[in-house]
Amino acid sequence: MNAIDWSNLSFGYMKTDYNVRSYYKDGKWSTPTETGSEYIDIHMAATCLHYGQEAFEGLKAFKGKDGKIRIFRMRDNALRMISSSQGTLMAELPVEIFEEAVVKAVKLNERFVPPYGSGASLYIRPLLIGMGAQVGVKPANEYLFVVFVTPVGPYFKEGFKPTPVAILRGYDRAAPLGTGTIKIGGNYAASLVAGDKAHKMGYSAVLYLDAREKKYLDECGPANFFGIKDNTYITPQSSSILPSITNKSLMQLAEDMGLKVERRPVPEEELATFEEAGQVGTAAVISPILRVDDIDENKSYVISKDGNAGPVSTKLYNKLRGIQLGDEPDTHGWVTVLD
Ligand SMILES: Cc1ncc(COP(=O)(O)O)c(C=O)c1O
Repeated sequence: MNAIDWSNLSFGYMKTDYNVRSYYKDGKWSTPTETGSEYIDIHMAATCLHYGQEAFEGLKAFKGKDGKIRIFRMRDNALRMISSSQGTLMAELPVEIFEEAVVKAVKLNERFVPPYGSGASLYIRPLLIGMGAQVGVKPANEYLFVVFVTPVGPYFKEGFKPTPVAILRGYDRAAPLGTGTIKIGGNYAASLVAGDKAHKMGYSAVLYLDAREKKYLDECGPANFFGIKDNTYITPQSSSILPSITNKSLMQLAEDMGLKVERRPVPEEELATFEEAGQVGTAAVISPILRVDDIDENKSYVISKDGNAGPVSTKLYNKLRGIQLGDEPDTHGWVTVLD
């Protein structure tokens, strides 16, 4: 194998040595087993292909200064996948099997975990799909759970720089009582057109409004939203956004730092009052927001006056990254250190 240029990795797929799989058949999950194949042999009438019976997760492993590998909050991802299964009538994968498969996939691909200091990390992608032939709109009776990993580069190649996001009123990602709170492929298919439009206009993401009233902030394409003002961390409460594990962690850290934390409906106009704002998720932890443009209403909310990340966002980002890398104490028990 050629040496990997850790500092020039993108957020893309790179083949690793193994992936780990568990099959659900006759009401039972098989012991997670490794394979070197990147392909899945699947029936053409499988429910995942036709009726979107599938869910996925995204989490990361990091190498610390001590050379140890740390996986961040995998139990929370396991629980979120169970919630996705309940929302799509898929067999529920027990937390223990999820964790066993994730640990196994990371250990078997240890040589792909980027070194400490590179800014890169190992992205872990668990995937659950409905298998077996079914023509009517019905849940499958067989499922496949796969965990693959791939090294990914630092999100911020040019540093921790704020970017602009767009409100596009002609698009919704998820309905108020739909599937926005779970992590299933259909939500992402539904976001591709608006995302592409925003990218072509020079924005890093779409900031969705609530679909019913178009009055409150929902979330940013693949990330939650937060704003900071008056020593308070404010993040939208909504029935159509994904409960981000990064956001949950940042709310806790904000509280630890003495900030007030509010989770409530956030009207669009409140954007004018934020001293800082950001997109939060596994990919970047925090991606600071420069400006929000409401394209159809011809309104613009400037968040970062000097074009730089604000002090609270920077402090939160450094703290969470520090915990993930093992530079900061893991006081909340979020990290699984592999032996
Ligand atoms: C729609 C959506 N919102 C938010 C997030 C952030 O969630 P997390 O912090 O668990 O990565 C993601 C990414 O997983 C996402 O796809």
